[in-house]
Amino acid sequence: MKKKFIVANWKSNKTSVQAKEWIEEVSNFNPSAPIKSGSAGGQILNDPKEIIICPSFTDLSLLKQIIVDKGLPFKLGAQSVSQFSSGAYTGEINAAQLKEFCQYVLIGHSERRTHFAETDDIIQKKVIRAKEAGLKPIVCVQNATTPIPREVLIVAYEPLGAIGTGQPDTPENADTIAKAIKEKFAVAVLYGGSVTKENVAQFTQKVAIDGVLVGGASLVASDFSAIITHA
Ligand code: PGA
Repeated sequence: MKKKFIVANWKSNKTSVQAKEWIEEVSNFNPSAPIKSGSAGGQILNDPKEIIICPSFTDLSLLKQIIVDKGLPFKLGAQSVSQFSSGAYTGEINAAQLKEFCQYVLIGHSERRTHFAETDDIIQKKVIRAKEAGLKPIVCVQNATTPIPREVLIVAYEPLGAIGTGQPDTPENADTIAKAIKEKFAVAVLYGGSVTKENVAQFTQKVAIDGVLVGGASLVASDFSAIITHA
């Protein structure tokens, strides 16, 4: 059995009121209930799933509180992190601050590269800051040749043309790219780009793909619940 990562990237969406409604709806659905697939020792089991929610910074505290209070089977991740440690960097949120709320952090999403001029050098610095604070970086790459900092254990392959377009990569090509990445780096590889409840299983069934990074379809609680089930 391989561990599957199912990551929700909310991007710049949801007020705290909307975040609370979403997590209540998804938790009522109860993804911790054993969803039956596969079998081991006569007992029916499914692959372990690590479900990671990456909301805006402003929703992290509330979501952490709800997860702890209700004992929900979710982890939290941030969508970015400062390349600097604490200090005179107005507007930045550093890795030690995030560690109070999250276990994971997305680094190098293509939207960060495009709209916020993040370079491979900045991404490397962010990975180092995250690791220093004990956060697990999930580094986004656009193809098999995007540089991956050595310290990284989880990579998300997200081809540019597939993000938010409704035109995902083919599962076969995503699997080929995931294999190519794994030949160079000992990492888990997720696929991201127009993942839906309808197509998620086609990706997670591929040998080299360890999970999915979901943008648009993660915003709707019922859709994300279905993605958890089908992954
Ligand atoms: P999408 O976004 O699922 O809306 O295509 C994925 C992402 O940008 O991480």
